[in-house]
Amino acid sequence: MEYFNFYFLLLFWMKPSHVACSIDASQPPVPIPKEKLLVLTVATDETDGFFRFMQSANFFNYNVKVLGMGSEWKGGDVGHSIGGGQKVRLLKEAMETMAEQEDLVVLFVDSYDLIFAGGPEEILRKFQQANHKVIFAAEGLIWPDKRLTDKYPMVRSGKRFLNSGGIIGYAPYINKIVAQWSLHDNDDDQLFYTKLYLDPLQRDTLNMTLDHKCQIFQNLNGAIDEVLLKFGTDRVRVRNSLYDTLPVVVHGNGNTKIYLNYLGNYIPNVWNYERGCSNCDENMVDLSQLKDYPNVLVGVFIEQPSPFLMEFFQRLLTLEYPKDKLKLFVHNNEVYHERHIQRFWEENRNVFGSFKVVGPEENLSQGEARNMGMDLCRKDAKCDYYFSIDSDVMLTNQQTLKSLIEQNRKIIGPLVTRHGKLWSNFWGALSLDGYYARSEDYIDIVQGKRVGLWNIPFMAHVYLVKGEILRNELKERNYFVLEKLDPDMALCRNSREMTSHREKDSPSPESFHMLRPPKGIFMYITNRQEFGRLISTANYNTSHYNSDLWQIFENPVDWKEKYIHPNYTRIFTENYMEEPCPDVFWFPVFSEKACDEMVQEMEHYGEWSGGKHEDKRITGGYETVPTDDIHMKQIGFDKEWLHFIREFISPVTLKVFSGYYTKGYAIMNFVVKYTPERQAYLRPHHDSSTFTINIALNNKDKDFQGGGCRFHRYNCSIESPRKGWSFMHPGRLTHLHEGLPTTNGTRYIAVSFIDP
Ligand SMILES: *[C@@H]1O[C@H](CO)[C@@H](O)[C@H](O)[C@H]1NC(C)=O
Ligand SMILES: *[C@@H]1O[C@H](CO)[C@@H](O)[C@H](O)[C@H]1NC(C)=O
Ligand SMILES: *[C@@H]1O[C@H](CO)[C@@H](O)[C@H](O)[C@H]1NC(C)=O
Ligand SMILES: *[C@@H]1O[C@H](CO)[C@@H](O)[C@H](O)[C@H]1NC(C)=O
Ligand SMILES: *[C@@H]1O[C@H](CO)[C@@H](O)[C@H](O)[C@H]1NC(C)=O
Ligand SMILES: *[C@@H]1O[C@H](CO)[C@@H](O)[C@H](O)[C@H]1NC(C)=O
Repeated sequence: MEYFNFYFLLLFWMKPSHVACSIDASQPPVPIPKEKLLVLTVATDETDGFFRFMQSANFFNYNVKVLGMGSEWKGGDVGHSIGGGQKVRLLKEAMETMAEQEDLVVLFVDSYDLIFAGGPEEILRKFQQANHKVIFAAEGLIWPDKRLTDKYPMVRSGKRFLNSGGIIGYAPYINKIVAQWSLHDNDDDQLFYTKLYLDPLQRDTLNMTLDHKCQIFQNLNGAIDEVLLKFGTDRVRVRNSLYDTLPVVVHGNGNTKIYLNYLGNYIPNVWNYERGCSNCDENMVDLSQLKDYPNVLVGVFIEQPSPFLMEFFQRLLTLEYPKDKLKLFVHNNEVYHERHIQRFWEENRNVFGSFKVVGPEENLSQGEARNMGMDLCRKDAKCDYYFSIDSDVMLTNQQTLKSLIEQNRKIIGPLVTRHGKLWSNFWGALSLDGYYARSEDYIDIVQGKRVGLWNIPFMAHVYLVKGEILRNELKERNYFVLEKLDPDMALCRNSREMTSHREKDSPSPESFHMLRPPKGIFMYITNRQEFGRLISTANYNTSHYNSDLWQIFENPVDWKEKYIHPNYTRIFTENYMEEPCPDVFWFPVFSEKACDEMVQEMEHYGEWSGGKHEDKRITGGYETVPTDDIHMKQIGFDKEWLHFIREFISPVTLKVFSGYYTKGYAIMNFVVKYTPERQAYLRPHHDSSTFTINIALNNKDKDFQGGGCRFHRYNCSIESPRKGWSFMHPGRLTHLHEGLPTTNGTRYIAVSFIDP
């Protein structure tokens, strides 16, 4: 019954002439059994593309015979010039033994750039429906000889020209075609088939046609816009939207390899919405089963002033990996960072297997430095992996290196993105002119809505490469990391249009040294875990003593992580605060580093006011209760400080003084220094504020003795201030207060009079 319906439909689908002579609806032809289909392909190397082809073939249980494996490729540079005759010769040799097998159907396809999207039954069914002895793939572009255009039969709708990347036919007929081959290995196969096809007599006697509407073969060249992914519950296909067909064989011919790689991230069963990634766990390595962890050379690249560099290094230290298996190569291009590296080196040089630094005095270009790092691994036969990481990558996942190694791909990078932005370390597509283009799935991958392992064309900032790949496929060192842009990419870079495009979501301009794998090597990005983020190195003003303090706008996540007390959020989750005197609230806000760097910054600036009544810094020029202080404004920190108040103090205010919405505005923001040698205490006073915050910047008993604060109305003193903790109290009327004498050492506090 099913058959009947199927052929009934077919009556409408087929051209009337064919229907009339071959299809009898009452007696449908017997389907060709799938055992009668033999797939022949030519491959001389087991490239990544070949494995992908075989995976898709095995998924559908195709019977595949590979011709030419291990032999030297003589077929010319297919795709760039004519060639491919070797493929015909090999097919001719193979067909000789099958010439008599009348019921055998041979499917001859390319393999490096080809994926099956459907199975043998479907191909055979479509082959039968087409009712010819031999069908060639078709495409809309003529190659290699444009002068033959007029010889081609016209087609009313569909693709007109022959493509030799896919042929299906009965064995005796295929044999009769290839038996006519007498040319050289580097002659053009497509031209050979084209000439046969264009000969009306041959076309007729050999009963040849083209798959005009991509029922079986989809060539992508010139047809990318026609093709869409079609997601099913257990399979993903491509749909040709122009002809409304579901091609079975998808061929990335011509300049469409990148697009084929994109499709190959899905079809036939690689990723879908229901199950996610189906082959992500294939060929994994279990590090825990190895006797020894692999040796990794870590190449660190500091190519521009980078905020949070010490934190960056700290994250390298906390990677879960035996440190003696890591060798460190650091290229630092910035004089500003020499003291940071020096500090890290002094503390950790013995932690790693080795530690080599190339500094700015070597005057290496970025490309030279990257090649140097890569070469160190390439030339060391014991180097199992090369892990390249730029100083703007914050790896928050300590498993990153292990996970990448376990994933066991030739080249793989962890997805890292700019916080809250679509900016990441990979490109999902290239435009026709070789520049950045957004792939259809880019946003979903960046946002983690599609999780898996993605074959992509370009990557930067952080990646892992197998040492053996460096010593083989990537031996030519400048092939891999571009010293400069490709000329055509460089061209686009200058165009404003592209610049604005890039700013939205592609890697930052300074990292134009992107990985571009040579032909035939697949490069993956994984978002199977969260690995970390890219920080912004733009607008990093290194003229401060602790320049990271100024990063509150540019890199808010890293700023918070570095400078806000680790228990700060507990204020809101578990009421983690105290009230030592009535309406004096006490809570953690600054980290140790925030306190220390603030004090350093002020001492570096050094112009303490001396606690005099005359004060040119304030309106009126007179301070009744003067402190020995430096204003935030004096060090250019007032905007950042107010932002800190709005982000981190206002929420606390709202919690303790409910119903009061602070404007988060303050004119008087300063750091006070108390010391017996200069000013040791402050007499009782009110503040010109609605409320005041007072953050202790150092430790009682360690850095000073004495100190504290006393609120007169309540006869209440707090004599043990805690570093990083802030008081918050009303400024006027009820909270007359004084600064208790510091008896030894130096005490620092940061004070703001909020909503004056
Ligand atoms: C091609 O072969 C089929 C049978 O396989 C036949 O029905 C059809 O008429 C032939 N077409 C031509 C143009 O010879
Ligand atoms: C560093 O290299 C650049 C170009 O390679 C050159 O123009 C410059 O003079 C060099 N500087 C020093 C200090 O050698
Ligand atoms: C960097 O900071 C210094 C010191 O505060 C300041 O003088 C300079 O204008 C800043 N530069 C930029 C580009 O903001
Ligand atoms: C955070 O609170 C916990 C528990 O009260 C405490 O043990 C820890 O020391 C606090 N962290 C810091 C940095 O003070
Ligand atoms: C203030 O408190 C102290 C002890 O905390 C007490 O000795 C003193 O008498 C109190 N003063 C007043 C005026 O209550
Ligand atoms: C003051 O502090 C210093 C160093 O912290 C210490 O050596 C000294 O004994 C202290 N003086 C008094 C009077 O506590």
